[in-house]
Amino acid sequence: MCGIVGYVGFRNADEVAISALRRLEYRGYDSWGVAIAKDGEIVVKKNVGAIGDIKDFSLGGGKIGLGHTRWATHGKPSEINAHPHLDCKGRIAVVHNGIISNFRSLRERLENEGHTFRSETDTEVIPHLIESWVERGEDFADAVMKTAEELQGSYAFVAMKADDARLVAVRYKSPLVLGVGDGEFFLASDIPAMLEYTNRVVYLDDGESVIVSKDGYRILKNGVEVEKGIEIVPWSIEDAEKGGYEHFMLKEIHENPRVVEDTLLEYLGEDIEIDSRIFAGISDILFVACGTSFHACLIGKYLIEELAGIPVRVEYASEFNYSNPPLSRTLVVGITQSGETADTLEAMRKAKKLGMRVLAITNVLGSTATRLADHVIYTRAGPEIGVAATKTFIAQLTVLYLIAAKISNLPPKEIEELLNELRSIPQKIRQILDMEDEISSISETFAGYENMMYVGRGIGYPIALEGALKLKEISYIHAEGYPAGELKHGPFALLGEKTPVVACIVRDKTYDSMLGNIKEIKARESPVIAVANEEDDEIEKFVDYTIRVPSTNPILTPLTYSVALQLFAYYVARLRGCEIDKPRNLAKSVTVE
Ligand code: AGP
Repeated sequence: MCGIVGYVGFRNADEVAISALRRLEYRGYDSWGVAIAKDGEIVVKKNVGAIGDIKDFSLGGGKIGLGHTRWATHGKPSEINAHPHLDCKGRIAVVHNGIISNFRSLRERLENEGHTFRSETDTEVIPHLIESWVERGEDFADAVMKTAEELQGSYAFVAMKADDARLVAVRYKSPLVLGVGDGEFFLASDIPAMLEYTNRVVYLDDGESVIVSKDGYRILKNGVEVEKGIEIVPWSIEDAEKGGYEHFMLKEIHENPRVVEDTLLEYLGEDIEIDSRIFAGISDILFVACGTSFHACLIGKYLIEELAGIPVRVEYASEFNYSNPPLSRTLVVGITQSGETADTLEAMRKAKKLGMRVLAITNVLGSTATRLADHVIYTRAGPEIGVAATKTFIAQLTVLYLIAAKISNLPPKEIEELLNELRSIPQKIRQILDMEDEISSISETFAGYENMMYVGRGIGYPIALEGALKLKEISYIHAEGYPAGELKHGPFALLGEKTPVVACIVRDKTYDSMLGNIKEIKARESPVIAVANEEDDEIEKFVDYTIRVPSTNPILTPLTYSVALQLFAYYVARLRGCEIDKPRNLAKSVTVE
């Protein structure tokens, strides 16, 4: 996720910007840049890679400036695509976090009007739009406001003009905080950026803009000045990097609603904006992946077979490399949040060699998977720091729903209903996050066990697999995911009072059979936690604990149940004192076979 900073005051803005950017490094980035205004000129420095150890960073020390850490979303990581971006004459500089969803049409219009673009980014339309308003005689701040009115999507951006002593920033659906010092002011996407200088902040809300000079600031909404109180941040810098959360994993679980929103924003306009040529003429689909991404594939299989009637196979990437798949018009889909998992890359290479069309679904722009594949669909989760995949899994699922809906052969009305329900998922996930205390208190009962079983049927089965993986990797409890119908073919031997079972019970055609399985499990004295639909009044009679999740179309339950299970795993691991963000023996990106 990009990090933005702005400074105006009495210090050297280049030094403030670089130190603020260092404080945002934890957000993850692939390139960075700083711009200052001095003597009526803008001076810019951009770089690919980490800020690293640069000593004595200096652009000449102007007192107003911007900085940016970029997590590439539109255009590969490169110096040209790094922010700040400038207008044609290099007089206006902008840093931005978010997605401008209408940038293509804006860019086309601006190019027709004679603007020359240098980068592949969505952001670059912003300085050009500001420039076009300034050229029509608008004051700089008014030009920024008018520009914001033309943008669709999500954004927090800060603009600076070479001969203007003000920074102007606007927020809409991306975070932006104003830091208030004595004779100096800071703008940033996150508090740690400014905490070294001030702990007095004003949180901007959607639709608000702020005009800041060294003498003060004005906050506006719809052109009208608004009064906002200054708040005191009680965090240390370390706390603040995690946004006040104890662990990155918890922070990332809390980002799930936004991740679904951003992914929908990117691909779901009036239509599903995924290139239909990816799927043209295919006979079947083969998913290859590892770990959590493999579980996303299993859910993808269910969705695509259910909604589109296209046959789907799912293989562990590491096993696909030993198989001899029949050649056909198969679309091979590699899902990998990092885009660097060695086994998945190898499977994609093999598929290419066999002449199959390859699609990568990944969270990392410019990663190896994107270079191997014929087509790429990006998830919009932002960087994930915790080793356990949480928000990237939810983003992968969101993309899979959109793909299944895109290639569906169901009546358009049914698909429209499903998409509308998908749009309501962020709010439902927020309701689950509000149940955090309840889930944490259930986890207290289970933190002392050494074995657990997760079961489900139909779409509940991959939910169970992923729930078990989350628990085992961060809490070190041995956890198995099983199809509930398979219990009696072996795992029953393991059940008993020392082996609790998490039952993922979905209100669909599997419901009655699952209820039967739960009774069988209870008969063997295993404590049972059900993850169930909130309207399910029956389930509580048969289980020991219930995590009630807001109702949705059963096919969408992976998006809600999985978040509840992420929280459950998190709280169990926390009680066991585990190193949650960096579990033993595991790496975030597994680049060896
Ligand atoms: C998930 O929590 C894991 N840490 C791991 O299973 C991961 O999903 C797997 O290594 C695949 O990674 P990828 O999505 O980056 O390819």
